[in-house]
Amino acid sequence: MKDSVIFYFSGTGNSLQVAKDIADGLGDTELINLGDFDFDSEITAKRIGIVAPVYCWGPPVIIARFAEKMQVNGDAYIYQVATYGGIPGAALKMVKQQLNQRNITLNAAYKIQMPGNYIVGYGARNEKSQLKSFAKEKASVAKITYEIKSDSTNLKAANVNPIGTALFVKIYKKLMTDVHNQDKNFNINSDCTGCGICEKSCPVHNISIEDKKPVWHHNCELCVSCIQHCPKEAINFNDKTQNRKRYVNKNV
Ligand SMILES: Cc1cc2nc3c(=O)[nH]c(=O)nc-3n(C[C@H](O)[C@H](O)[C@H](O)COP(=O)(O)O)c2cc1C
Repeated sequence: MKDSVIFYFSGTGNSLQVAKDIADGLGDTELINLGDFDFDSEITAKRIGIVAPVYCWGPPVIIARFAEKMQVNGDAYIYQVATYGGIPGAALKMVKQQLNQRNITLNAAYKIQMPGNYIVGYGARNEKSQLKSFAKEKASVAKITYEIKSDSTNLKAANVNPIGTALFVKIYKKLMTDVHNQDKNFNINSDCTGCGICEKSCPVHNISIEDKKPVWHHNCELCVSCIQHCPKEAINFNDKTQNRKRYVNKNV
């Protein structure tokens, strides 16, 4: 493992883009998909990043589990970056608290607004608004990378206003508790060709192709990668997504 690592989780590429851009800015940084990482193994890196989206005003369940289990060296400099579509809520605060409870210090927390990808609630934003977000991302990453390089402490983004806290408290637990079974809501239509892109793009390897059709194995994070990446738009969430424009970050 390199001295500088970034653990990332990404369904549609926004967080991967941010992770890659920070890694490029820092230099000599290893990128590790959390879906491929054994949480019990020791993390020897001295500079550790966690880059992931916001889900339901909190962190994805895989990130909360990582914060509960990660085995780090006491002196490591740890930073977190949350990508979000509209309201980041308590995603950064929750991870900070989880780490603090284990006597691990989160040194810096940042948020970067990116195109929203929650197709269960809305379709893809138009191209112009996506390009605006990507331009802002570049500027934010430059600032963040500068701070990380100098091991700065900056936890301002982990402060949450009352609306963010209320959304988190009211909705996060309700929606995310049974997240692994959310794939029971997915269906495929007759346009599915069994191409396997959903299987390859699932960051937690929750899909296999059997008899030329995807099968979900109830280890879902609700990242909606399978819905968004399907070239035939053949995967849907109940009856909510049929007419919605798909979103995939084309920069990665
Ligand atoms: C299940 C789910 C829940 C989401 N909840 C929120 C949210 O509470 N607030 C927000 O601003 N964005 C929310 N989003 C949007 C994502 O955080 C945002 O688009 C993110 O950049 C996607 O990152 P990715 O491309 O790396 O997967 C949600 C997306 C999904 C799939």
